[in-house]
Amino acid sequence: MRQQMSTRHLAVELTAITDAAALASYCWLGMGRKKSGDKAAVDAMRRGFMEMDVDGIVVIGEGEKDEAPMLYNGERVGTGKGPRVDVAVDPVEGTRLLALGRPNAIAVVALAPRGTMFDPGPAFYMQKLVVPEQARGLVDINAPVGRTLAIVAEALGKKVRDLVVFVLEKDRHSRLIEDIRSAGARIQLHTDGDVAGAIMAVMPGTGVDLMLGTGGTPEAVLAAVAVRILGGEMQGRLDPQSPEEAQAVSTAGLCTARVLRTEDLVGSDDILFAATGITDGTFLSGVTRTEEGIRTCSLVMSGTSRTVRRIQSVYTPLRMSLLEAQACA
Ligand code: FBP
Repeated sequence: MRQQMSTRHLAVELTAITDAAALASYCWLGMGRKKSGDKAAVDAMRRGFMEMDVDGIVVIGEGEKDEAPMLYNGERVGTGKGPRVDVAVDPVEGTRLLALGRPNAIAVVALAPRGTMFDPGPAFYMQKLVVPEQARGLVDINAPVGRTLAIVAEALGKKVRDLVVFVLEKDRHSRLIEDIRSAGARIQLHTDGDVAGAIMAVMPGTGVDLMLGTGGTPEAVLAAVAVRILGGEMQGRLDPQSPEEAQAVSTAGLCTARVLRTEDLVGSDDILFAATGITDGTFLSGVTRTEEGIRTCSLVMSGTSRTVRRIQSVYTPLRMSLLEAQACA
């Protein structure tokens, strides 16, 4: 029988890993040094995986082995016991947000059964469309933006002018921004962090109704896990941003015309997603110092049980001094 992995035990262990990454990177919050913050989080996440009973292969990691000494694509993680899984990590999703002390930096991990996560190979960028459950099955990433907005508004029982669209603030989006505004909808512009953007689009009560635009391909796979669990829909299309990337994508046999749906990005419901807030954000508070110790807020979601758990943890000053000694060195 297939070994299911969506146990509560594993879910809690996963938040311990995202917590460790968030705590480690917090040391570098607002210090203007995104690489130091990222490295601290990567180290902490890797240490966390050493104790986790999974037989994991990193599919979405820090890049290729030669550039990333740890959590590189293809690296084996876990104790080797337990379920065989694909692993997606982003120890700091929003390294610039962390370095500049801006909201919505999160530490993220997702697990799926071996062979079910989309491997983007050399594709760095993907055009994305994320909509909540009510609009699932109704939208098409190739349709004009105005049409998509009208469909989502109708599905949500809203007027187009009341829709809020999450868009990354990038030069490549100037036409998209113009199209959204001329259709009459509102835009929430964020400099970074479209995994958080995708979650905002599908999670009720965040003030965001959908996400549009081009961002990282690894982030698309991570986001798809959360979107699938939360019942929304994601569509993507590889969108190379340089001739070199376009060439590499074509050499790898990947097609930029293909519409990748949620199920193509992650092909199972037996999935887990965990995130811990590093800086305060729309759906997660960041790491906070309190009198008891340091508090973290995490979200862990399971595709089999369709549960979303929010976990608040307090790390005592003793535990923190150990962690800080490792992270701030
Ligand atoms: P990092 O944490 O790796 O810096 O990624 C942040 C991010 O904003 C992602 O959320 C997004 O998918 C991607 O960068 C967009 O890339 P770019 O900043 O190159 O347009």
